Amino acid sequence: MAGMKIGIAGAGSMAQYHCEGFTRAGAEVVAMADTDLDRARAFGEKRGITRVYADLSRMLSASPEIDAVSIVTPNKFHKPLALEALSRGKHVYCEKPPALNAREMGEMLEAALKAGKVLMFDFNNRARPESQAIMNYIRDGRVGTINSAQASWIRRNGIPGFGGWFTSKALSGGGPVIDLPHMLDLALYFMGFPEPDYLLGTAYYDFMGNKSFKGPWGIPDLAGGVTDVESACHAMVTFKTGQCLMIRSSWAEMNERELVSVTFQGTKAGGKVERLFGIDGLDETSVDNSRLFIEEYGNQVDLVPRTEMDQSMGRVASAANFVEAALGISKPLNTPGEALILMKIIDAMYESASSGKPVKTG
Ligand SMILES: NC(=O)c1ccc[n+]([C@@H]2O[C@H](COP(=O)([O-])OP(=O)(O)OC[C@H]3O[C@@H](n4cnc5c(N)ncnc54)[C@H](O)[C@@H]3O)[C@@H](O)[C@H]2O)c1
Repeated sequence: MAGMKIGIAGAGSMAQYHCEGFTRAGAEVVAMADTDLDRARAFGEKRGITRVYADLSRMLSASPEIDAVSIVTPNKFHKPLALEALSRGKHVYCEKPPALNAREMGEMLEAALKAGKVLMFDFNNRARPESQAIMNYIRDGRVGTINSAQASWIRRNGIPGFGGWFTSKALSGGGPVIDLPHMLDLALYFMGFPEPDYLLGTAYYDFMGNKSFKGPWGIPDLAGGVTDVESACHAMVTFKTGQCLMIRSSWAEMNERELVSVTFQGTKAGGKVERLFGIDGLDETSVDNSRLFIEEYGNQVDLVPRTEMDQSMGRVASAANFVEAALGISKPLNTPGEALILMKIIDAMYESASSGKPVKTG
């Protein structure tokens, strides 16, 4: 499939990174479909994509040579668009979260198996240089078994607007729990995607509607729109392997600054991958780093892998990996089976937060 051809559904903010990654891996973005045709045209004009359509069906009918579809729409449309693309024999690269819930994710997994096509998600944090540096140690057995880990994506004032699709449960599936699944995914990746056993979690709805807790990205508020999702959730999950994971997730909480990290404690080494955002998002005070904590010759030692800062947080590399996986020349950085485990944990977080009781997940 040399010269793979890709059509993008949804001109959302991540589409630029998809384009860059696909092109870097030698693929060509030939068409764009967005229900907002003006947005599709504006996106296409900047990148020489002349074929723009109002929906995926029209795009695939008009451009049957498309080999793969990438999906960059609000979360509610991930499943239907992925099912349509897979049923028409296309590989699919879909933005996170994979779907609204585990049931939908199960349908997507079945559809990918039936079509015999690659289905991957933009878990871009796995492709970050810091994450891959740590993963090399884990693969080589230098961390041992990860007993415990902590996955955090916490913000102080990072609500993505009020009343738009992000804050509508029907369109997004929920608040930060489903919007910021990257560190949960990265922790599971490091831990080897063990099977979850029990989960206990709580959710909070403070500051929703308070404009001083809104994020700085200029996402407009929608008057009359729905805001019915959580602002924070904290949970602990145990696994059938005996491992455990704490999850901290928030858009708005009284935290010092935005922290994006996975820390872990293994039988041979501990470690962390971290991004500290600057006060105004990604600025000169932002820090990306990774560390390994070991004991050597009677001393406690910190190893500091030196990696290039990737401003895209692995988004370009992740999209490039999709093309290579679809061509069969690289292993996919993530699989639908892993996405199903992630979605089961997310479902359990909402279930436990609502019932106030532990949830048996396995
Ligand atoms: N990987 C990351 O770090 C990251 C960061 C931000 C957003 N995202 C994800 O990207 C997705 C899009 O988020 P966004 O902030 O760019 O949203 P957005 O609202 O800015 O853009 C979504 C686009 O999809 C279009 N659209 C809606 N329904 C459609 C359909 N059925 N077919 C085709 N186009 C359709 C809209 O018109 C809009 O142009 C979400 O799933 C979000 O979670 C991922």
